[in-house]
Amino acid sequence: MAMLDLKYYGDPVLRKVSKPVENVDGRIVKFAEDLIETMGAKNGIGLAANQVGEAVRIFAVDPSLANPGEKPFVLINPRIIATEGDVGYEEGCLSFPGLFERVQRPEKVLVEALDIDGNSIRTERDGLVARIILHENDHLDGKLFIDYFSFLRKQMYNNKLKRLKAGEIEVFR
Ligand code: NI
Repeated sequence: MAMLDLKYYGDPVLRKVSKPVENVDGRIVKFAEDLIETMGAKNGIGLAANQVGEAVRIFAVDPSLANPGEKPFVLINPRIIATEGDVGYEEGCLSFPGLFERVQRPEKVLVEALDIDGNSIRTERDGLVARIILHENDHLDGKLFIDYFSFLRKQMYNNKLKRLKAGEIEVFR
């Protein structure tokens, strides 16, 4: 397994719409395992492929904070089938080190995807795991959690976001 390099806000790959995986072959399995390893090493609870520079529709989720003992997994070519509810909770993102902000999202999600063995799966999640899935799924479409910030919140962060984008600072403080 190998650690992958994280891409930070300002890297154009984070705004790309990622391409579907055509075939869950050995190369994809290896990449998925590396994505899970990188997420863990960076203390993340979710990581999308384009956050390590690969614009393909895969993301990793670590559900263990919500469900102790449940192992990290990947979803490949995920499709959100249904959502329910609306809840605000503080979020972060490995591509925005040090930035945490409350974001409104659905409370529950029903998602279809391929697992790491290439099997079709359908899973219903709520709470933190639903939030992770929705946050990571957005990454696949080039959408970032800052896109949900209110106008005033964006104004407040504008200067730091610009500096982060320009590579002048590495961490929000
Ligand atoms: Ni993120």
